[in-house]
Amino acid sequence: MLGTIFKQFNNQTIKQYNNTTIHSIKIMISTNRLYFGDNLDFLRNWDYFPSESVDLIYLDPPFNSSQSYNVLFKDIEGAPATAQIKAFEDTWRWDEKSAKALYEINSVVEYTPQPLVALLDMLEGFLGHSPMFAYLTQMSVRLVELYRILKKSGSLFLHCDPTASHYLKLVLDAIFGPKLFRNEIIWSYRRWTAKSKRFQRMHDVILFYAKEKPLFNTLYEPYGDWIKKDYSYVDEDGRRWRWHSPHGVRQKVYLKDPDRGVPINDVWIIPFIGSTSKERMGYPTQKPLALLKRIIQASSNPGQIILDPFCGCGTTIDAVETLNQENPDKPLRKWIGIDITHLAIDLIKYRLATRFEIEKDHYDVIGEPTTITEAYALAKEDRYQFQYWALGLISARPWGEKKKGADRGIDGYRSFIHGTRRTYTKCIIQVKSGKVNPAMIRDLKGTMERENAEMSAFITLEKPTPAMTAESASAGFYHSEVMNRDYPRMQILTIRQLLKDQDCFKIPPGGGLMGAPKFISKTNSQKEFFK
Ligand SMILES: C[S@@+](CC[C@H](N)C(=O)[O-])C[C@H]1O[C@@H](n2cnc3c(N)ncnc32)[C@H](O)[C@@H]1O
Repeated sequence: MLGTIFKQFNNQTIKQYNNTTIHSIKIMISTNRLYFGDNLDFLRNWDYFPSESVDLIYLDPPFNSSQSYNVLFKDIEGAPATAQIKAFEDTWRWDEKSAKALYEINSVVEYTPQPLVALLDMLEGFLGHSPMFAYLTQMSVRLVELYRILKKSGSLFLHCDPTASHYLKLVLDAIFGPKLFRNEIIWSYRRWTAKSKRFQRMHDVILFYAKEKPLFNTLYEPYGDWIKKDYSYVDEDGRRWRWHSPHGVRQKVYLKDPDRGVPINDVWIIPFIGSTSKERMGYPTQKPLALLKRIIQASSNPGQIILDPFCGCGTTIDAVETLNQENPDKPLRKWIGIDITHLAIDLIKYRLATRFEIEKDHYDVIGEPTTITEAYALAKEDRYQFQYWALGLISARPWGEKKKGADRGIDGYRSFIHGTRRTYTKCIIQVKSGKVNPAMIRDLKGTMERENAEMSAFITLEKPTPAMTAESASAGFYHSEVMNRDYPRMQILTIRQLLKDQDCFKIPPGGGLMGAPKFISKTNSQKEFFK
């Protein structure tokens, strides 16, 4: 599947910018869309992203921290799960992809700004073909496209950390021009860290650039206690004032707009998402909603389009929807998210459904298989992404990497309510993209016994044999006290069936798996910023 999308990009597409007038402003871009795949392939597709079509871009790419990030899903009753699933790697190396990116910047993408070519040439000399240079090259090709699709009134916020922020600022200066730099925002937070022989690292950097005619809404925060010292007198009407003597003449100066507060500065103190935070989705590197709401309120208006090309578990999308629900009388802001792992796409779907009751038919998902041929292509391209996608079809969660060997044979699970005491139990799931045989069903039966699982499902890309169906049927039925009906204890589900009808999986009702608290409207809760 990803491969099919890759092929949509060709050199002609990249050259288009110079040969076309910017008529694309008038092209309606499709919004409230999730793209599954490499953002570069989508960003270079001019049908998906015409030039000057997006109002605000926030991107939070992996930082080159040489780490693997694991998803830690919460368990059904809210307890943190022990199983971890690798979501993405933050390890960049100089390889064919990076070399191709550099070649394209230098020789193929005609609208690459010349200062960027010069800068990368210099950095190549300084950094060599190091992981940092690979990272910067990969970011550069993407930022060139992001600049192209940003409207003239648009802004871009690049979230990074001090590991690479100084280099990324050079890259952005080369693309936007240094005059279009607006702020280096410091997001400062507290968290537990180990002792080290340097000051504790407690901030991220957000580089803010805007195009020629930027939109900016000044946001305010309440006055701190310092105001009581500065304006230490209070008159009979409760108004604060102080003495001021500009030319030796003492005069009373009143505090203007006492309810409005002060314009927010470029150091943002916003709590980190801790392990017990209600907002926590279990996705590594998840950013706080408050941070995204602030960016969106400052640099976009209702009705505008916000893009997050590295959207992770969808904090940007959540922030857009939260603002929409807080302002029901205003035009809706629209969103576009892209992520390369299906774990993220699935979590966003879940987040939209549980927090806002926004179901899949209210937005588009591009890049997911919709036909059996595309399902085969995805399985061939990436077995794990196929598995995550297949599990998502029945709203199941990946099982994770517990102790080696202990959980072989389980790829995912779905919880459901069980027994008269209404506790939760699990239906275990196995996904197969290759050849299948009856021994696999017998093994799954054994795994059910070992795990005390009441039910199981076997998802297969290939057609099951009659012997497999017979073996599965011999497992009998599970009786649900809650629904007062029987369910097949083992179910074989083909991808073909699931693509047609996801309800073909029969399971008693259950709850969600991760803690995304439902959105509860607090009217005017953003009042503190807009006064
Ligand atoms: C730091 S996380 C973003 C977290 C996000 N801001 C949030 O609050 O959840 C970076 C994300 O970028 C995704 N990613 C990495 N390379 C990508 C690529 N080439 N195209 C699209 N997404 C990519 C990763 O899968 C990961 O989800």
